[in-house]
Amino acid sequence: MKGILLAGGKGTRLYPLTLGVSKQLLPIYNKPMIYYPLTMLMLAGLREILIIGTPQDLPQIKRLLGSGEQWGVQFEYAEQTHPKGLAEAFLIAKDFIADEPVCLILGDNIFFGTGLWKQLQNAAQLKSGALIFAYPVQDASAYGVVEFNDAGKILSLEEKPTQPRSRYAIPGLYFYDSQVYQIAKSLKPSARGELEITDVNKIYFEKSQLQLELLGRGVAWLDAGTHENLLHASNFVQTVEERQGLMIGCPEEVAFRMNFINRQQLRTLGETHQQNGYGQYLLRLLEEP
Ligand code: G1P
Repeated sequence: MKGILLAGGKGTRLYPLTLGVSKQLLPIYNKPMIYYPLTMLMLAGLREILIIGTPQDLPQIKRLLGSGEQWGVQFEYAEQTHPKGLAEAFLIAKDFIADEPVCLILGDNIFFGTGLWKQLQNAAQLKSGALIFAYPVQDASAYGVVEFNDAGKILSLEEKPTQPRSRYAIPGLYFYDSQVYQIAKSLKPSARGELEITDVNKIYFEKSQLQLELLGRGVAWLDAGTHENLLHASNFVQTVEERQGLMIGCPEEVAFRMNFINRQQLRTLGETHQQNGYGQYLLRLLEEP
């Protein structure tokens, strides 16, 4: 399976913050936002990752992430010139996907919690059909919404309904087989003029090829698309990190724990930043039993 990280869009809800900087490069406490979804793909075991961004933002994103070699992964980059919706990612990624299953994660979605690693590892085994997640929120109207029965069977899918049929939002983390390109190609723009990811999911649903998994209480899912949410996400990360002395969304650490890089490589990464807490944290990982 390959990974796609979509870091497109103008981030208009975050103006004026995003007038000069890509949303996905804004800080979430002590790291660029993009580190959080990126480490999710790495935790799923994916090492071939396509990063999609606007032509203005891609040079900065590349400057930050490079080839991926330093973390034992391989990044490719592709432009989304005139953003036409999330499902456009699969059209842009046509050659990258080729005949492989793919995981799409949105560049402003942050996940943290117990059991997540296992769920990701299992999801990355997907060979056919698609897999999405459901997460309870107070107000689901800003999201894709999934309604399901007691047996977990999906009943309906809707994008940003004014009156949601359930309180379960669909987070920006999706697993698809290689049909996804053809499905995305068949889509028509929605009323708001976008190729909707929810329409992709509906097609899998109609074919009875859509699986749903619950992200439960032990998991935090935050999206950092508004000023309030940006601050909430930063505060959340700070609280957990300061209490536990463990980082969330640290690519060097994930690369090391996933055996993508060895001790010597981690030491080199730590030493390049040893004047600050981030580098010292990396070096401290080497002392763990
Ligand atoms: C998008 C999707 C929506 C999903 C959400 C997750 O919304 O369209 O289905 O629930 O991401 O963050 P948008 O970011 O366009 O508001």
